[in-house]
Amino acid sequence: MTKLRAAITAIQGYVPDFVLTNEILETMVDTSDEWITTRTGIKERRIQKGEGLATSDMAVEAVKGLLIKSGTKPEEVDLMICATVTPDMVYPATANIICDKAGIKNAFSYDLNAACSGFIYALVTGSQFIETGKYKKVIVVGADKMSSIVDYTDRQTCVIFGDGCGAVLLEPTTEETGIMDSILLSDGSGRIHLHQKAGGSLRPSSHETIDNKEHYIYQEGQAVFKFAVTRMADTAVEIMEKNNLKSEDIAWLVPHQANLRIIDATGKRMGLPREKVMINIQKFGNTTNGTIPLCLWEWENQLKKGDNIIIAAFGGGFTWGAIYLKWAYNSWQLL
Ligand code: UT7
Repeated sequence: MTKLRAAITAIQGYVPDFVLTNEILETMVDTSDEWITTRTGIKERRIQKGEGLATSDMAVEAVKGLLIKSGTKPEEVDLMICATVTPDMVYPATANIICDKAGIKNAFSYDLNAACSGFIYALVTGSQFIETGKYKKVIVVGADKMSSIVDYTDRQTCVIFGDGCGAVLLEPTTEETGIMDSILLSDGSGRIHLHQKAGGSLRPSSHETIDNKEHYIYQEGQAVFKFAVTRMADTAVEIMEKNNLKSEDIAWLVPHQANLRIIDATGKRMGLPREKVMINIQKFGNTTNGTIPLCLWEWENQLKKGDNIIIAAFGGGFTWGAIYLKWAYNSWQLL
């Protein structure tokens, strides 16, 4: 029997208009453009402004664009998975809300939380429903309004994160393209280094948790950096070896955009020149679940059918992993 694979057949990103530059941050906390640029590679990030706007509002922009671009009717969508750490509400799932706002009526939908690795976890999860032949059109969204959980008086975290999202359509193919392989891992003992202290069942919201600023991101940067830099590179190299891929076989590395130094270290371990690494951290910062689809969206016009792509991510949990993807279309096919 011919093997069904899940191929990305369209991609769309969205970032809000407001640009929070390093220069603006210099007026808010004790930091400098020089420190942020040399330690992280970030120059600016986007922030969703406006009363009553949430993660789903950004995601809907991406999803609507995706439907138009791919000529898909909302009622044709079978499943939507939204990877996010900043859901509109604790429940229902943001994916339910996105479907409602985008007019997607015949799909089941749910959220997936694997912190910064959420998008690759969701991509692999979504691809299973395609590979089994059960469903034909699966949308995977990676979306985060990080500004809703950033403490803008904490210079260690507020310079890093931004808001943004992306969405991909997964469809079946019998060609040798699509998601070829994946390695996904987690180690929950890493939670001590990166978490949000309150708002869950461990520490429900209270006046005290608000006063203690426990609803913001807590990150021990250096500890996370050490794990991220080794795990992301190790896994990217492992998936190359597992699939007999040499550096010259790889068209692109799509790394999670947490820190330019982590991205460079991963590219180096894989033996790739900078030109083969998608980097947009300077413009968008770390949008958590948005980073990888935003890269694919920005580079879409340069991607060719059959390109070997390695996606790699590391995030809170800890969670990490890599995907080997063979790009399924030339972008002009969509024009
Ligand atoms: O996305 C999911 C996973 N997250 C990551 O992968 C993030 C991994 N970690 C990192 O990217 C980096 O650790 C950070 C960018 C968060 C921090 O960079 P670092 O080079 O590890 O800096 P550090 O925390 O070791 O701090 C070095 C110094 C400290 O001052 P002292 O103690 O040496 O005097 C900090 O207080 O830099 C100081 N510092 C700052 N200075 C100016 C920390 N934040 C800032 C800032 N501006 N914004």
